[in-house]
Amino acid sequence: MGILDGQVAIITGAGQGLGKAVALEFAREGSAVALLELNSQNVEAVRAEIEASGGEARAYALDITDYDAYAKVVEDVVAWKGKIDTLVNNAAIAIYGTILNDTLENWRKQITVNLEAVYMGSKLVAPHMVKQEYGRIISVASIQGFASSGDAGAYNAAKGGILAYTKSMAVELGKYNILVNAVAPGFMRTPMSFVNGVDETTLPDFIDWYVEKGKVPLRRTGFPEDVSGTIVFLASSYCRYMTGQLLVVDGGVMSTF
Ligand SMILES: NC(=O)c1ccc[n+]([C@@H]2O[C@H](COP(=O)([O-])OP(=O)(O)OC[C@H]3O[C@@H](n4cnc5c(N)ncnc54)[C@H](O)[C@@H]3O)[C@@H](O)[C@H]2O)c1
Repeated sequence: MGILDGQVAIITGAGQGLGKAVALEFAREGSAVALLELNSQNVEAVRAEIEASGGEARAYALDITDYDAYAKVVEDVVAWKGKIDTLVNNAAIAIYGTILNDTLENWRKQITVNLEAVYMGSKLVAPHMVKQEYGRIISVASIQGFASSGDAGAYNAAKGGILAYTKSMAVELGKYNILVNAVAPGFMRTPMSFVNGVDETTLPDFIDWYVEKGKVPLRRTGFPEDVSGTIVFLASSYCRYMTGQLLVVDGGVMSTF
């Protein structure tokens, strides 16, 4: 028995990192999972891993900023399972730069993948959730949505936008029993934490400041598995009177200065 038994979830960016960890955890807890991902090989590997351990999964290789392609996937999931209980808006990209040296093109790319696709996916699943009078929309933001590292403005703007839009959707959809919440991870060791080929969470400066000096009070970097359980909670029946909220999962970074 899992706490998501009989459920159906759509998870974006499910080919690696946090999205993969969420997909595996949802499947372990009994949810069928639709895996949406740009990288066809990765998403196929996650699908195979889930099915090999007795779970139910379908892999969809697509760019989630393609609204028509995304709409077809949502229709296919409904035809497959008859419902969508949860959407996890997880996929994102990070392109480093400041207002002085980044480009409009990079700004637009990040806002499109990191924020606009949250709107698209939510818009596509919401009518089904309204019909069911049940649904969970869970979006992955970042602590960068409200505190800046100083080199990721567009990414941060998108993540701050997710928080505002989570609250808007929570108010708009509450009467249909649709709960809309967000999770803000701190540092996580995933492919995204590699900057110029180097995992930033293994650099001496990171270890010194965040780990040894305790800027991360729990004194270690996070891993996808440290965050995925929070998303399972938000999708489960243990979460039923909470909407429009952001849960920060950062080892305590935002509690210190
Ligand atoms: N890694 C961190 O330290 C960290 C910290 C805070 C928040 N986050 C957030 O966590 C989430 C997951 O990040 P991660 O670290 O696992 O990143 P990641 O880069 O390892 O994985 C992201 C996945 O999304 C996919 N993707 C990107 N654009 C896509 C598109 N247009 N269509 C379909 N799939 C697409 C990628 O192919 C990749 O598999 C993101 O929202 C990220 O912003 C990460």
